Amino acid sequence: MPLDEPAALAEGSSRLPTLEFALTGSTADYLIHASPDLLSKARAFEHWESTRLAHGLLPFARSLQTPPAAHTTLREQDGRDVRGLNFSSQDYLALSSHPAVVAAAQEAMARFGVHSAGSSVLAGNVGDGVALEQALADFLGLPHVLLFPTGWAAGFGVIKGLVRPDDHVVMDVLAHNCLQTGARAATRHVHLHRHLDVDHARRLLTRIRRNDPHNGIMLITEGCFSMDADSPDLAALQALAQEFQALLVVDVAHDLGAMGPNGQGQIGLQGLHGQIDVVIGAFSKSFASNGGFVAGRSRALKEYLRYFAATATFSNALSPLQIAVIHQSLKIVRSVEGEWRREQLMQAVQALRQALTQEGLTVWGQASPIVPVLLGDERRARLAVREMGQRHLLANLVEFPAVPRHRARLRMQVMSSHTAEDAQQAAATVAAALAASAQLMPQAAQTP
Ligand SMILES: Cc1ncc(COP(=O)(O)O)c(C=O)c1O
Repeated sequence: MPLDEPAALAEGSSRLPTLEFALTGSTADYLIHASPDLLSKARAFEHWESTRLAHGLLPFARSLQTPPAAHTTLREQDGRDVRGLNFSSQDYLALSSHPAVVAAAQEAMARFGVHSAGSSVLAGNVGDGVALEQALADFLGLPHVLLFPTGWAAGFGVIKGLVRPDDHVVMDVLAHNCLQTGARAATRHVHLHRHLDVDHARRLLTRIRRNDPHNGIMLITEGCFSMDADSPDLAALQALAQEFQALLVVDVAHDLGAMGPNGQGQIGLQGLHGQIDVVIGAFSKSFASNGGFVAGRSRALKEYLRYFAATATFSNALSPLQIAVIHQSLKIVRSVEGEWRREQLMQAVQALRQALTQEGLTVWGQASPIVPVLLGDERRARLAVREMGQRHLLANLVEFPAVPRHRARLRMQVMSSHTAEDAQQAAATVAAALAASAQLMPQAAQTP
């Protein structure tokens, strides 16, 4: 539903926002809105957003009042606190309050202070960061690693840094925002292949190479997709890249550290350690910090991106504190304790998937820290998530345009600190909330 209600509510109007207005529409309605006033769309959006908030239907932009542990407290924008069982944080190995990680941060702060005070291409690359790059290179089996301020910055920066306007990008239609935005910023020649469909990627590559033997092709995918929790056949994609003289880039934000032998993620699980052209990743999931990286076999890749990936070159380097946290987390990931944490995580994941399925719910993807549960129609999904909050369950609602229309979902993110009992309780709560939401649907909103 587009901008009707905000237009009717032109400044000064006293008409009460309706429940139907809060239940319908999406952020896409407020993206393009012709007006000489750049802020008019922002006002319309703010009205819709606050209407949703007033009806308790805005489970976004909540703030943590306690650490992102298995139980936490989130404060709504209207000041209400919701305490509950937390499946909305991406601290997969539960390292964010780990004593050794906190101690490493404190030790680094005592030695270095809190700030790196410069881009990594100038004087902001603290010595510990160079050591971290070497440790990551060893972990990934790829000798050249460059750090980025965030995972998003790594995805965007690597693509925009390497792809010129006449080059091509072929990527999975569900690739993350940083990859899609980077690709579109770099070139008009962005070709999306159907999700996980290697044959479709091949057809696109064949056509591109037939028409354009002169320019580069970047083939982009993810280790574990963040909305559907599934993984591509990486060996097949790497072979395709070789055949068509393309460069394969795999974003391992969600699986590295949390899955696979020694925490090597899907690349390790698929027996491809050290064999992917370019790997990018984020530390924000299993490494308890902001930050990202790119890794590859050639020094040329690293040195080029140091100067040509704007999100690294023109942005401040990671702080000494972040570097210490990531490095200590990496040590845990590679240790016996890391193995144990991954086992705990997978047990909780399996328990949750099983319990949700037993409740008759549709669970997507494969066993990974992300457990997507189909909620369906956006109106029902918003009501269901409100009901979950009232029943003390915290999990993220994902709706159009982040996922297709009428395929809204609950994205549950599991941590190694979740127990089988947590999983049972969460599944029962999701089922109860979804059932309650059916009763709450306003008459006008009952049809899909
Ligand atoms: C595949 C993928 N890449 C990159 C990012 C961004 O990572 P960060 O939050 O570290 O910027 C995410 C975030 O969820 C992601 O899912």
